[in-house]
Amino acid sequence: MSRYNYEVFPTTTALARAAAQRFVACAREAVAHGGAFHVALAGGSTPRALYTLLAAPPACEQVDWSRVHVFFGDERSVPPEHAESNYRMACETLLDHVPIPADQVHRVQGELADSHEAAQRYAEELNTLPTTDTGWPRFDLILLGMGDDGHTASLFPGTAILEEHRAPVAAVYVEKLATWRISLTLPVLNAAARVLLLVSGAGKRRVLTEVMQSSAALSDYPVSYLTPRPEVEWLLDAEAAGVLAVDSGEAAP
Ligand code: 6PG
Repeated sequence: MSRYNYEVFPTTTALARAAAQRFVACAREAVAHGGAFHVALAGGSTPRALYTLLAAPPACEQVDWSRVHVFFGDERSVPPEHAESNYRMACETLLDHVPIPADQVHRVQGELADSHEAAQRYAEELNTLPTTDTGWPRFDLILLGMGDDGHTASLFPGTAILEEHRAPVAAVYVEKLATWRISLTLPVLNAAARVLLLVSGAGKRRVLTEVMQSSAALSDYPVSYLTPRPEVEWLLDAEAAGVLAVDSGEAAP
């Protein structure tokens, strides 16, 4: 029995559909209770299917986009029009297709030559968020993925950002990619009212199984530093879940 709250879906499409339903429910609840929905989007490729679903009926008609404030869990040190930009991917799949006010999309300025400056400016954007009772920016929802090395957002194994417990966002040099990234830090991820972690594909299976079956955080895999709590939901497809699917009856084909 895993210490994490996870559900396995037979296909990537089913995973995206379930994530879209949870996104809509979270948005409606946040708007109903607080008048706004503050969400941090994940980058990479896995969320594309989710964002595409959110950009089309019925999902897009179920969210009051005028109340939505979009942030990013992390960003690459590239300009917004770059093929590697998480902002560009989110625009192409979602933000260009829904009526969200432009000033409610909070982009990380990855184009800045100094990633520390980009992190500082983004920290000022995060100051517009409600805070937890311990003073951390509080997202209603943070969407995350997991790399095949166990990273999440831009919290890569062995990087200094894992030790950042004061700032809500930081710049981090990722040796294996030979590039700078800007990322929310662990305290912010663990302060979110809700986290949806989407993991898809057989390439993630080995690390995912180790993380899900571990009884404690694994220092090699930063994603395991996410506090196991009911509000942190892992949505897995059967390909990624492997033996984990057996427990939930969705064994991979
Ligand atoms: C990024 C993401 C990163 C991503 C994982 C998984 O900027 O790339 O924030 O953490 O979620 O690398 O990426 P895939 O979804 O492409 O497998």
